[in-house]
Amino acid sequence: MIKMVNEKLLYEGKAKSVYQGENDEEVIIKFRDDMTAGDGARHESMGQKGYLNSILCAKIFEIIEEAGVKTQFIELTEPCVMKAMKLEMIPIEVIVRNIATGSIVRKFPFEDKTPLNPPLVQMDFKADEYHDPMLNDAIAKALGIATQEELDKLRELALKVNEIMKKMFKDIGIILVDFKIEFGKDKEGNIYLGDEISPDSCRLWDAETMDMLDKELFRQGKDDEVIEAYQEVYNRLLSDEEKAKFN
Ligand code: CDP
Repeated sequence: MIKMVNEKLLYEGKAKSVYQGENDEEVIIKFRDDMTAGDGARHESMGQKGYLNSILCAKIFEIIEEAGVKTQFIELTEPCVMKAMKLEMIPIEVIVRNIATGSIVRKFPFEDKTPLNPPLVQMDFKADEYHDPMLNDAIAKALGIATQEELDKLRELALKVNEIMKKMFKDIGIILVDFKIEFGKDKEGNIYLGDEISPDSCRLWDAETMDMLDKELFRQGKDDEVIEAYQEVYNRLLSDEEKAKFN
């Protein structure tokens, strides 16, 4: 088991807890089974979610890193426990959309399921008390959240991550509809992909059946289908060898 009792908790999010790592440059991210929706209005514990998401996130970060985007990922020391670089997080949720659905369809006159070509990059201010409002560059700069150079870099990196992940999912018969990522900076100001990428933060549709394979099931109250869907993504993305590693 993980020796977490004596560890210093740095931050507790809705589905992950971040602890101080072995040194000042590292953190330990613990993936929990908690699942929330509607600004925390619903909160359930979904067995196996932390396990599946931590392994999926590690695999996805490895693929992204190999393709040339720097990520915080160091090592998955055991299921649910990720060693990562300590970063100063930028409070922006960078959302990339390949197909219009969800909040964009509620806020703007897009028809649901319209393909977006080129993909659309949206930035939301990560602040629960303001309900994550949509940003533009002027507001982000006036708030002192990021410089123009950083905003341009986030957009460039987000589109690159989209290309990498679109292909990765296409190869296993999954359509990447949209996703949210977050970035942080090291002490020198270099930008790294932080937080997580998992079915909690993406919309994924089975390319054949169009079935949802992500957190949207939970948002729609189909709680009993959630883990099965995440397991399906895990089954397709991980090789037998990789699955055996933590079994
Ligand atoms: O429809 P909803 O309000 O959930 O959000 P959206 O803006 O349509 O979400 C776009 C994508 O970002 C989806 O893949 C969400 O899962 C993801 N997202 C997230 O991971 N965390 C958030 N706080 C907001 C969106």
